[in-house]
Amino acid sequence: MTKILLTGGAGFIGSHLAERLIQQGHRLVLVDDLNDFYSPETKRRNLKEIKANASFEFVQADICDQAAIEKVFEQYRPEVIIHLAARAGVRPSLEQPFLYERVNVHGTLVLLDLARLYGVRKFVFASSSSIYGITSKTPFSENESDPNPISPYGVTKLAGEKLCYVYSHVHHLPTICLRFFTVYGPRQRPDLAIHKFAKLIEQGQEISVFGDGTSFRDYTYIDDTVDGILATLELQVPFEIFNLGNSNPVSLTEMIRLLEKHLGKKAQLQFKESQPGDMPFTCADLSKAKQRLGYRPKVPFETGLSRFVAWFQQNHHKT
Ligand SMILES: NC(=O)c1ccc[n+]([C@@H]2O[C@H](COP(=O)([O-])OP(=O)(O)OC[C@H]3O[C@@H](n4cnc5c(N)ncnc54)[C@H](O)[C@@H]3O)[C@@H](O)[C@H]2O)c1
Repeated sequence: MTKILLTGGAGFIGSHLAERLIQQGHRLVLVDDLNDFYSPETKRRNLKEIKANASFEFVQADICDQAAIEKVFEQYRPEVIIHLAARAGVRPSLEQPFLYERVNVHGTLVLLDLARLYGVRKFVFASSSSIYGITSKTPFSENESDPNPISPYGVTKLAGEKLCYVYSHVHHLPTICLRFFTVYGPRQRPDLAIHKFAKLIEQGQEISVFGDGTSFRDYTYIDDTVDGILATLELQVPFEIFNLGNSNPVSLTEMIRLLEKHLGKKAQLQFKESQPGDMPFTCADLSKAKQRLGYRPKVPFETGLSRFVAWFQQNHHKT
């Protein structure tokens, strides 16, 4: 049993991870500021759903508030930090770059520095496929030596990784950075395309499709992402970076077709200019994660999408 501090625990990935960590018998402290990037009610409901099956500590705090976060370290003395709290999403980072920089870079530094001070034995950081840019070779490999993200969000995640490296190298804090690739499934963030489109199709409203529908995303089912995060708890390394994707990209057009099929409704599409910051293609090279973490994504896209739709149909009136 390990004492784990999980930041962003009320969010999409965090709430699924929390359930699995508790099932495995770990003691958990969740930190989340329940901000209004999307409805705080949704986040409270996520917390309630975790609580229905288990107990954990919850602290509502902003990771940028050093004094408040230090109190959490002081009180709970976590052995491992899994740091998922962030401002997520590419497009909003173009509108609020300073907020993204503050939460994703300064907030990460607050946690790394407290982890150093309090002798934490492992720090796991949620990075993103967005650190790869349009010049990266596909499938994206952790060996890419010069990634050039094309959004402020991607840059903040790359900066987070670099800070993790510094804390590992200089302060001997073992750090592992995980590059998630478009995670989907029940409780998915409402700003992400699958969830947003499902809502518009359900309401009979038009969907703005940016580009010609031929962009590809390496959608990864939430349970596979969580399996990959859990595998890092077994790994003893000073510093590593892993892709956690599916290595099976799906086009936007195909994603919409499958959504229509499982919702049983036609989408009304309006094609628009591609948006700046959006990547045309993402695909993870998983050789390293397979070899070192035993990571093997199991859920094919259509199976995962049908699970999302089943959840959505029960919950969309609440989201
Ligand atoms: N979902 C994806 O497809 C995806 C892909 C790549 C990377 N990621 C990364 O994974 C992590 C989790 O993503 P998610 O999709 O679950 O997002 P989410 O928004 O559902 O979860 C993030 C949580 O962090 C909390 N948070 C944000 N700022 C905070 C702050 N200043 N202090 C305390 N808590 C704060 C939010 O309230 C939220 O509950 C993020 O770091 C994100 O960048 C996600």
